[in-house]
Amino acid sequence: MSSEQPAGSARARSLSGVVIAGTGSAVPGRRVTNADLEKVMDTSDEWIVQRTGIRERHIHDRDAGESSASLATEAAGRALESAGLAGDQVDLLVCATMTPDMPTPSVSCIVADRIGAGPIPAFDLNAACSGFVYAMNTVHALMLGGRYKTALVIGVDCITQHCDFSTSGRATSVLFGDAGGACVLRASDDASKGLLAESMHSDGAGAQHLYIPSRAGDFYDQDDSDAQKINRVVMHGPGIFKFAVSTFPRLIEQTLDRAGLSADAVDHYICHQSNARILAAARERFGLAESKMHVNIDRFGNTVAASVPLILDHQTRAGRVQPGQKVMFLAFGAGLTWASSLWQL
Ligand code: UT7
Repeated sequence: MSSEQPAGSARARSLSGVVIAGTGSAVPGRRVTNADLEKVMDTSDEWIVQRTGIRERHIHDRDAGESSASLATEAAGRALESAGLAGDQVDLLVCATMTPDMPTPSVSCIVADRIGAGPIPAFDLNAACSGFVYAMNTVHALMLGGRYKTALVIGVDCITQHCDFSTSGRATSVLFGDAGGACVLRASDDASKGLLAESMHSDGAGAQHLYIPSRAGDFYDQDDSDAQKINRVVMHGPGIFKFAVSTFPRLIEQTLDRAGLSADAVDHYICHQSNARILAAARERFGLAESKMHVNIDRFGNTVAASVPLILDHQTRAGRVQPGQKVMFLAFGAGLTWASSLWQL
């Protein structure tokens, strides 16, 4: 079930001449603090901050026109602008999401139309919180074939539509926020840049830890079966916590090993934001400086497929992520899924 590859193979096809040419992101207008949540459910700022590190998040308003498609379009527009490109120069578009506005059309088709990309290949990919990292690896592999020169890779989710913002849903709803992020990948003659190593994994045997049932028969555990929970995130927090704390370091180790690099040789670790404690545990395990492993969960919560590109965009715009550096993208999530992507910028 894993894209296992012999240790040397990633190295053999590294530095393929693909560059991250631009980044963009977007969040909904409505900012919801822990104090706001205290007004609608039995929770406290102290509980949320201590257990997760989250202080606020942004929540979309579908009636005001905010949705996965709108956030994805906004993020994509900013990424194109920062790359100095127009929509009609994009020849491949992949959007990672588990919350498209509708089952069909895909978010990708809507964005491709809105940016004026023309009849290019455009499709959505669902790997939950690992989606954006899966999408980067997938798009990179497609670009290696030489047919695609300019690709938009997007991660977007409006997960709060599946959250119950009452006391009975407090164990999950306080964790999540909505956002979109994007990057432009471009084929380049500069073969000193590109993907150094990647990995993608899944384990459906762990699906029961995190899922969204769409009917009564979908509940993995009959103890969870409750009509109020249909269409809501069902999560066994401690199970996911354990999975994440053990998987994260292994994923970092495996990716470094495939690239033949030490942990210190990587300039930035851009990780899915699900819990500040999980990130801190991984950082301490490798003895990394705080400045190398970025955290923004305090301001945005867990934004599912958007969390990795959101940080990438913020850190790039802040001038911290720069050409010449090495950046490792890491994520894990429902499925279960986990993935990494290590780039020489
Ligand atoms: O993208 C992947 C998505 N998910 C994750 O990565 C989540 C991973 N898991 C976690 O981060 C943690 O398991 C949580 C933060 C979700 C929960 O932390 P925990 O320390 O595992 O708490 P718990 O679920 O064991 O609950 C402890 C207590 C319970 O009360 P009792 O039974 O001890 O009296 C809960 O009812 O905290 C209570 N509780 C809350 N109290 C105030 C649960 N949610 C809340 C809340 N406010 N929002």
